Amino acid sequence: MKLFDVYPINNIVIDKAKGSYVWDDKGEQYLDLYGGHAVISIGHTHPHYVERLTSQLNKVGFYSNSVKMPLQDELAEKLGKLSGKPDYQLFLVSSGAEANENALKLASFHNGRKKIIAFTKSFHGRTSLAVAATDNPAIVAPVNQTPNVIFLPFNDEAALEACFKEQGNEISSVIIEGIQGVGGINVASESFLQAIRRLCDQYGAVFIADSVQCGYGRSGKFFSQDYAGVNADIYTMAKGMGNGFPVAGIIIAPHLQPKHGMLGTTFGGNHLACAAALAVLEVIEKENLLQNAAEVGEYIMSELKKIPQLQNVRGRGLMIGFDVPEQFKDLRKNLLWKHKIFTGEAKPNVIRLLPSLALRKKDADQLLEAIKEEIEVGAESITK
Ligand SMILES: Cc1ncc(COP(=O)(O)O)c(C=O)c1O
Repeated sequence: MKLFDVYPINNIVIDKAKGSYVWDDKGEQYLDLYGGHAVISIGHTHPHYVERLTSQLNKVGFYSNSVKMPLQDELAEKLGKLSGKPDYQLFLVSSGAEANENALKLASFHNGRKKIIAFTKSFHGRTSLAVAATDNPAIVAPVNQTPNVIFLPFNDEAALEACFKEQGNEISSVIIEGIQGVGGINVASESFLQAIRRLCDQYGAVFIADSVQCGYGRSGKFFSQDYAGVNADIYTMAKGMGNGFPVAGIIIAPHLQPKHGMLGTTFGGNHLACAAALAVLEVIEKENLLQNAAEVGEYIMSELKKIPQLQNVRGRGLMIGFDVPEQFKDLRKNLLWKHKIFTGEAKPNVIRLLPSLALRKKDADQLLEAIKEEIEVGAESITK
């Protein structure tokens, strides 16, 4: 049997990983500023994480949600404390798309409505509702198409206001990434998030903060929407939550009421998943990683802004993007193959940095020097 060929892949086999570094099967070291797509939050193979998962596996790895699981209560308590939302309720799943699918569904159960507002350049996952709310027709299969999703321009308060004015009583939910990831690192303005809160309250719609990529401390605050000083009704999270173990979840404001059988999943919240998620939160707390993400992110952004050839340096914490002019279009490729640095991208010309929240300034310097060198080489080749 061969693999279903859907991923464009780099010809690299990763064999070992530690902190912000990975090694290939030939022993070559790489700086990982991509984190396997924003997944590595506390650093690869963190000793506390390895220990907690190993000891859990030696006790019990899995049982379903048909029995009591004190680990889930422990996780809910810790998550409530660190996220500053202790009165929210936790529902555990296994992926970002599944989290968004459940959030959209729960909103609809709650208010009995069908329409969803999503935004240009959004990415919410590949399952049916999540992909329908994703602004990329190329990944929406005919069976996923629905008239229930309304796309509005990102950060456009007047368009949002007008849409609510016209059909506010039909809107079930508004779903937004606090910082768009796949769309190219676009930060939702604080006033836009505040407008969503106000209009959802006014019209009885549910505010869903897709924090799958920008959540869990990546922005320097637990949720990037926290910068706006508003609470969403549902936060969805995945990626950094398990530092690579597939665990995801939604946290739900107290006014949204559960009912037996309303949501469900086989794998969500199993023993190993909870151990992974708890280990991540324990390390985030002990090592003060939100503060580190804020500080190191600020440092990287201020240094990148000093390089005039890079355009629109933007982001928050360790979720950073910048535009690469056509003249340096091979920059990302050269960072990987010449300088051994993994970065992310967004089409057509954005480099995305999504490293571990424990990244140190001296690791970041390696990137900054490599970029400066590449810019110099690129500029020289033009003048020759
Ligand atoms: C903001 C956002 N939401 C949802 C998803 C989907 O997550 P998953 O791939 O775990 O289903 C992603 C994945 O990149 C994402 O960036």
